[in-house]
Amino acid sequence: MSENTFRSPNKKGKIAIFLSGRGSNFLAIHDAILSGTIHAEIALVFSNKKEALGLQIAKKRNLETLHLNPKNYDSRKDYEKALITELKKREVDLICLAGYMKILSPLLCTEFLNKIINIHPALLPSFPGLHVQQKAIDWGVRFSGATVHFVTPDVDMGPIILQAVVPVLQNDTKTTLSDRILKEEHKIYPESVRLYFEGKLLIKGQQVLFV
Ligand code: GRF
Repeated sequence: MSENTFRSPNKKGKIAIFLSGRGSNFLAIHDAILSGTIHAEIALVFSNKKEALGLQIAKKRNLETLHLNPKNYDSRKDYEKALITELKKREVDLICLAGYMKILSPLLCTEFLNKIINIHPALLPSFPGLHVQQKAIDWGVRFSGATVHFVTPDVDMGPIILQAVVPVLQNDTKTTLSDRILKEEHKIYPESVRLYFEGKLLIKGQQVLFV
């Protein structure tokens, strides 16, 4: 198979945010758009959870929101087909996963190849998956952090855009470490989106080069 090569577009992009929870990363991205740092608009805030706090905040900010209940679909494929229709209707250029707690199927990953990014609260490829702040403490690593990466069907394994490092302190709890990491997430996620729509990201296989 030939190596994936892709240059991010230089345009005013349309973003769909996917979230399942409180949405602080969504807010960091939206704030960067409002301040003019990111050349883009949020076309949709989507959630699989009707009660997601981020969805309520998006409504208050007068953003378009959508909730699709997975229980109303026979399969993940059917669910994502409906979702893809909604994304295409709004001509979405980039999907930002921001605490979206549902694994994407290869269908969505392929349909939006190079157009989905995620934030993960650890220094990938170490600690993929869930509960990673606690795992970092349990392993006794001295540093952890956050990673923004492109999404591929291999969960948490796509090309890395930006990372931020924080120390892991001896008396850290899951909460104190998560808070320290989250502060960095709010910097590197908007920054990654900015670079994306300034046409500055070049994917070459597993690597992302700044151009
Ligand atoms: C963050 O820790 C992010 O790294 C992970 O999910 C959490 C979402 O937090 N993917 P928030 O909803 O953006 O506040």
